[in-house]
Amino acid sequence: MPLETKLTKLLGIRVPVVQGGMQWVGVPQLAAAVSNAGGLGVLTALTQPSPAALRDAIRETRKLTKNQFGVNITLLPSINPPDYEGYARVAVEEGVRIFETAGNNPGPLIKFFKSKGCIVIHKCTTIRHAKSAERLGVDCLSIDGFECAGHPGEEDIGGLVLLARAAEELKVPYIASGGFADGRGLASALALGACGVNMGTRFMCTVESPIHQNIKEKIVASTERDTVHIFRTLHNTARVFKNAISQQVVEIERRPGGAKFEDVRELVSGQRGREVYTRGDPDYGIWTAGIVMGLIKDIPTCEELLRRIEREAEEVIGGMSALVVPAKAKL
Ligand SMILES: Cc1cc2nc3c(=O)[nH]c(=O)nc-3n(C[C@H](O)[C@H](O)[C@H](O)COP(=O)(O)O)c2cc1C
Repeated sequence: MPLETKLTKLLGIRVPVVQGGMQWVGVPQLAAAVSNAGGLGVLTALTQPSPAALRDAIRETRKLTKNQFGVNITLLPSINPPDYEGYARVAVEEGVRIFETAGNNPGPLIKFFKSKGCIVIHKCTTIRHAKSAERLGVDCLSIDGFECAGHPGEEDIGGLVLLARAAEELKVPYIASGGFADGRGLASALALGACGVNMGTRFMCTVESPIHQNIKEKIVASTERDTVHIFRTLHNTARVFKNAISQQVVEIERRPGGAKFEDVRELVSGQRGREVYTRGDPDYGIWTAGIVMGLIKDIPTCEELLRRIEREAEEVIGGMSALVVPAKAKL
């Protein structure tokens, strides 16, 4: 019997699992594999060098899956911002109907997508931001706890409290993000009022993920203790894999007087991070990963992974209901 939640109904998917946007990882081959496996695969717009390249990526994904998939647009703090509008317009023109937005000032993008009748899932790390996105008319929120890979925000609230607060405060459905990798996690997210989960690191470590096999094996060999927060002192915290380079960045940030972005620019270069995935050298640059590495023990196909998550979640939910016994049986 399949699980049915507000998310499966909203998106028309079988398993209430979304693959979050992932720079350099959310490419057609992975997004299509997740959608084919019954979840929602998501292309990361900014991984494509231009809106025209995103158009090609969307067409390529369509060839690989007949199912719905989404596009992530991440609004970055940047002096020369990318052509967000161009990416958004192209995706809508290509018939994409589901968007994950993340980052600062999503208002104009959300308005644009809603004016085109699209479904918007906005990812954020505070209840305050979730409520503003709700006012802007999003269909669903993705609540990213402190456990998450990438940007957890600056308030350090773990998923357990954040999701319970979401249950108290939000009117629209929300999915739980950060630290999810298995059916037990999915069942716990549902218990906390979420209608599904969003996963990043777990999907990096699948057969269809485009990153080098060495990095997938490194994730399997790593534990929940193998991440570190960089950019804390710059108020743009990012959880990344703990290696010599990320530790050096943290040391520079801790120097008396602190650090400016220029002091670490070379170390954190996006190009070096990208090459980690192509060369397969986990120490070559900064790359994103979450503490959920502690729960990742294999490199399955997306199909195997989502079937397993579905089965485990059903078992956990069934087992939990057995804990509730008729009052007289307690005597
Ligand atoms: C390699 C990688 C790259 C990511 N890049 C982005 C991104 O470009 N935009 C974004 O909104 N989130 C990004 N994320 C965050 C994920 O979408 C998701 O919110 C996060 O991974 C959830 O935490 P988890 O890794 O514990 O599942 C990235 C995550 C990873 C692992």
